[in-house]
Parts: sequence; C-alpha cells; structure tokens
Amino acid sequence: MSIAVCPGSFDPVTNGHLDVFRRVAAQFGEVIITVMINKSKQGMFSVEERIELLEDAVRDLPNVRVDSWHGLLVEYARQNAATAIVKGLRGANDFDYELQMAQMNRALTGVDTFFVPADPQYGYLSSSLVKEVATFGGEVAGMLPEHVHTALQKRLAERAAR
Ligand code: PNS
Repeated sequence: MSIAVCPGSFDPVTNGHLDVFRRVAAQFGEVIITVMINKSKQGMFSVEERIELLEDAVRDLPNVRVDSWHGLLVEYARQNAATAIVKGLRGANDFDYELQMAQMNRALTGVDTFFVPADPQYGYLSSSLVKEVATFGGEVAGMLPEHVHTALQKRLAERAAR
C-alpha cells in the first residue's frame, strides 16, 4: 500500500490544510498527518492539542491518521514505510522554501516529495496569519474547521484573562 506523510506544525489546522489532506487521501492508500515537534518554537496549542484538533478534523477520512515526531522527517518516513512526503503549495514563496527541503530530503534517503497546489480559495491562509488576525479581533470563522475556531477563541479568551 502507498503511504504518504503530510508533515507540518498545524498550530492549528486550517481549512487549507484540510483541503490538501482530503485530496492526498484520495491518491494514497494511507496518509499520516505528522505534527513535527519544534522545541524551540512555543506554539499557541500544545502538540497534544494540535493532534486532537487534527483528529477531529479528519474523522471522516478512514485512511488518514495523525501522529507526531521529533527529529528528521526522512527518518519518520523510513520508520513508517512512507514512500512520499506531500505538501500543499500556496505560491512561489512556499515553492522556494519547499523545493530546497524536498531536494535535501531526497538526497538524505531518496524519499520523494509531491506538491499539491492550494485551492485558490485557501491561497492566502496560513496558521500564523489566522492566529494574528484572530488575536486582534478579526473574523476567521470561515478559515478553520468549526471546532478549531472554537478552540482558538477559547485560547485567546484564556490569554486575555491572564
Ligand atoms: O508547517 P511548517 O512549519 O512549514 O513545516 C515545516 C516542517 C516541520 C515540515 C519542516 O521544518 C520539517 O520537516 N522539520 C523536521 C526536521 C527536518 O527533517 N528538517 C530537515 C528538513 S530538509
């Protein structure tokens, strides 16, 4: 069976990510969404919270599961017998950044990276921009799965109350 890994920070998952997961799930036998742990970066959500939000978001996709990893992505792919890394691309900036990583990863173990072009309706979405807009009171409800929007509002309210 063909196994693909979709790695990222997913802090938190957006509708743009979700669209890519659905499209990848239609092409591969199994898809693993892997929350990459970056200990030098303090997220808005813990890794456990991000996993929970992702799991709720992909509950209707039977061939998709969620995991986390600290270390080299290629090692994760090797240990899980994944033959493909799949990333969404919003534009040229993403491509410049992603191409270098794809080439590095292929040089390391031979694993190939496949790119899925973002649906134009999600081309401007990123977790960091959504968090910034929401922090300053902007409306982001249509950009996130409903339960993620609820979790984000709750987290912002907790922060404001501190
Ligand atoms: O959502 P992000 O933050 O753009 O994802 C980037 C990520 C986490 C996929 C990338 O930084 C990564 O693969 N990190 C894992 C460590 C690693 O393998 N680094 C070498 C990449 S060539």
